[in-house]
Amino acid sequence: MLIPDIDLPVYPDECDAFGHLNQASFLSLFERARWEMLMRGPGMDVFTRAGAWPAVRKTVIDYHAAAFPGDVLRFHQTLTHHGRTSFTMRQTARRLKDDALIATAEFVFVCIDREGQPTPVPAEFGDFLNTRRAPGDAQRFTMNGVSLAVEVRGEGPAVLFVHGYPLDRTIWREQIEALEGYRRIAPDLRGMGQSDAPDLGYAMSTYAADLAALLDALAVDDVVLCGLSMGGYVSFEFLRRWRHRVRGLVLMDTRAEADGMEARRARDAAAAAARESGAGAIAEAMLPKLLGPGTTERAPAIVERVRRMVAATPVAGIVGALAAMRDRRDSTDLLPTLDGLPALVVVGEDDVLTPPDAARRMAGAIPHARLVLVPGAGHLPPVERPSETTAALLDFLRVVG
Ligand code: MLT
Repeated sequence: MLIPDIDLPVYPDECDAFGHLNQASFLSLFERARWEMLMRGPGMDVFTRAGAWPAVRKTVIDYHAAAFPGDVLRFHQTLTHHGRTSFTMRQTARRLKDDALIATAEFVFVCIDREGQPTPVPAEFGDFLNTRRAPGDAQRFTMNGVSLAVEVRGEGPAVLFVHGYPLDRTIWREQIEALEGYRRIAPDLRGMGQSDAPDLGYAMSTYAADLAALLDALAVDDVVLCGLSMGGYVSFEFLRRWRHRVRGLVLMDTRAEADGMEARRARDAAAAAARESGAGAIAEAMLPKLLGPGTTERAPAIVERVRRMVAATPVAGIVGALAAMRDRRDSTDLLPTLDGLPALVVVGEDDVLTPPDAARRMAGAIPHARLVLVPGAGHLPPVERPSETTAALLDFLRVVG
């Protein structure tokens, strides 16, 4: 069973003179949702029983839309970090009747004893939030001090899927489902999806080091490395340090060039927008660029899936990834050195972020690389055209072995 969602109504006395749910009430609704969730799990007294009180140390709330008296809000809650004495909860409030995202929040807690000293998080609480997951859902691995959510499926030669920004491992859902006979490993990079989102510590080299540590933890020697967009930038960094662990390379909707001055400035502007207006604003700004026109016009479910994914990304992870992308190295010199490494370059025909031209240049610079253009897809072929993308991957994997 998953952590239950909690539905709570908005009362008139919680709203300001204009009828909007006010800030103080937002806080108390988030808190009430947490207690209700405990009530349906280990019990509201789980902390007092263990002599460990969860003291809130930090709260970040992003307000996306107003809520009014009579609205019923659905609270979805996840544990994004579970340390020895501290933990972080992410909570999302959506209006039940139209599914509008109202607010997202992160609460950092430290468990303290009666003397105010840090004390371990009660095991019963951690077990309830960590292990009650649906089959096929992520496992957690702590890499370089950060807890990552990782999906690991199947047996066979390993394929490591690295998602882009500001997305998560579920962009590979259809490929993970389909690639039977392979060990599919798909982490949420730090700061995205269900992984921890520390305030600092983002760089392409750090993301790559997390992946290498993850492979160590899984006792996997080598992989076919499949990176989409920022996942491609991470893959270049991985190759610089752990080339011997890469059996084959798939570069999807990515580019080898570093950011120019204009792109660097745009990264800083996007980070400022994320800090000011939250992940929802980033989702609205990015959606038209992430998806091809065919998807936007004809596949509302995909549009909604991607919107939710981006809007659920912690602001710290967005800001961190933007800085990491802004400061990444140019990898064009790396491409000709990949001689002997089987490589596939995939790009959506309608990708405007990393267009087919960039893919052609990349494929031309890597000795013997193949290029596949996916019709009807923008920047996210695995989501927009899953079967075509899976077919291209399978063809390649058969050659790599
Ligand atoms: C991504 O999808 O990872 C990003 O769009 C890459 C970028 O902004 O350079």
